Amino acid sequence: MSELSDNLAEEGPPRPLLLLVDDEQAHLESLERIFQRAGYGVITAENGEQAIDCLRMHPVAVVLTDLVMPRTDGFAVLKAAQTLRPQALVVLMTAYGTVDNALTAIRQGAWDFVTKPIKRNGLLTCIERALRHRQLQMENQNLRARLHAVAPEGGLVGNSDGMRHLKATLEQVAPSSATVLILGESGTGKELCAREIHRHSNRSGGPFVAVNCAALPDTILEAELFGHEKGAFTGAEMQKIGRFERANGGTLLLDEVGDIPLAMQVKLLRVLQENEVERLGGDGPIPIDVRVIAATNTDLKQQIKEGRFREDLYYRLDVITLQMPPLRERADDIPLLLPLMLGRFNDKHQKSIRGFSDDALDVLSSWSYPGNVRELENAVERAVVLCPAETIELSHLPPVMADAPIGPTPTPSQSHDSGLVFQPGMTMEQLERAAIEATLKHTQGDKNLTAQLLGISLRTLYRRLGES
Ligand SMILES: Nc1ncnc2c1ncn2[C@@H]1O[C@H](COP(=O)(O)OP(=O)(O)OP(=O)(O)O)[C@@H](O)[C@H]1O
Ligand SMILES: [Mg+2]
Repeated sequence: MSELSDNLAEEGPPRPLLLLVDDEQAHLESLERIFQRAGYGVITAENGEQAIDCLRMHPVAVVLTDLVMPRTDGFAVLKAAQTLRPQALVVLMTAYGTVDNALTAIRQGAWDFVTKPIKRNGLLTCIERALRHRQLQMENQNLRARLHAVAPEGGLVGNSDGMRHLKATLEQVAPSSATVLILGESGTGKELCAREIHRHSNRSGGPFVAVNCAALPDTILEAELFGHEKGAFTGAEMQKIGRFERANGGTLLLDEVGDIPLAMQVKLLRVLQENEVERLGGDGPIPIDVRVIAATNTDLKQQIKEGRFREDLYYRLDVITLQMPPLRERADDIPLLLPLMLGRFNDKHQKSIRGFSDDALDVLSSWSYPGNVRELENAVERAVVLCPAETIELSHLPPVMADAPIGPTPTPSQSHDSGLVFQPGMTMEQLERAAIEATLKHTQGDKNLTAQLLGISLRTLYRRLGES
């Protein structure tokens, strides 16, 4: 297998990569010369096995392979390309007597074939045509992804049970004016969900206004929500229309509603009950017609218990509750989210990255995503920025992800690799030993904590350690 001919190290967009496969050394070398002189990026393989390795490792655009080779023939290379590089096109080289075979290969999805003896010009034209076709295919895909990013049908992408249930409830509750409480961990799409409710409601022609209640200091939050008259307090040099009034006829999202200070919770409750607001320093209530959606990632019931959230306000907000499922519980949606985000960030950073290597995809599909969709989004954006070629590799992912062992999605409580492997046939003694070692690893050698976690005394732990 040859090294990559210098093409990937150059500045500018990478040239499409051609994989040449032939078991006749001299023939392979002359093909390599032809394509290198014509300016292609070329890698070569002397047999089918090497060709498959190349396909696995490099973002191959076109494969030109001999049909008849010992062990792994051109048919097998074609099959491997279809799995490993679905967008790569395969051209077969065949002796005159075996054209029938070549036609079979075309039926199986090969792009074209050339007959031996190979003529330089015919070969170059054939490969150019293949590349043009592939370019068009990619542009099409890119356009589709872009279209999807601008106007995703349904906005909330996902087809897992959790998302289907959520979307069904959303469509049911959207048309009413009922208050909705959206619960969910950070980054699960609460704001996007609120926008979707608005979009599906008969208020969609009106404004959608969002306030992040956690981001604003108490005094400013009050003025933001309810507005103020000129001179209402020192510094109020002009009249300010509050967000409630700005959302009139539409929807107001109170994001991070759990962070509203208690004093303001009373005022908010009154607005919700009376459907009118009073500007600070104002001389009377102003009627409003606003649908309120509240969102939070905190446990409001716990906050009520602790006296930090008013129970009456909670019941006012909690007419309909939507629970956003965390991404780790809907890993099926990751393959749907990835192309959307790839399209979005290709656009934003003016790149034309086509996809992910198998390794990168494995990691992206099995990560536990404590930061949910936002974390996935950040990982893809980072990778798009760092990736110099067409395929996002493991090394472009955040180190915390790239270094993680690949396996079933861990739940947050077991997101560390415990290293404890139970196999039938292990003795109790071996099991105990494994439990101690795994816990020690988890506590980074803290013996006190290890003993506590295992429910044994420190002395017992030392004794067990000494026994080995
Ligand atoms: N189902 C989804 N489909 C497509 N994009 C999504 C989905 N869920 C979330 N996103 C995207 O992920 C990002 C985070 O979503 P959003 O801001 O709505 O989450 P959030 O729950 O409000 O987060 P936080 O609690 O941090 O405020 C946004 O860019 C959003 O567009
Ligand atoms: Mg939010």
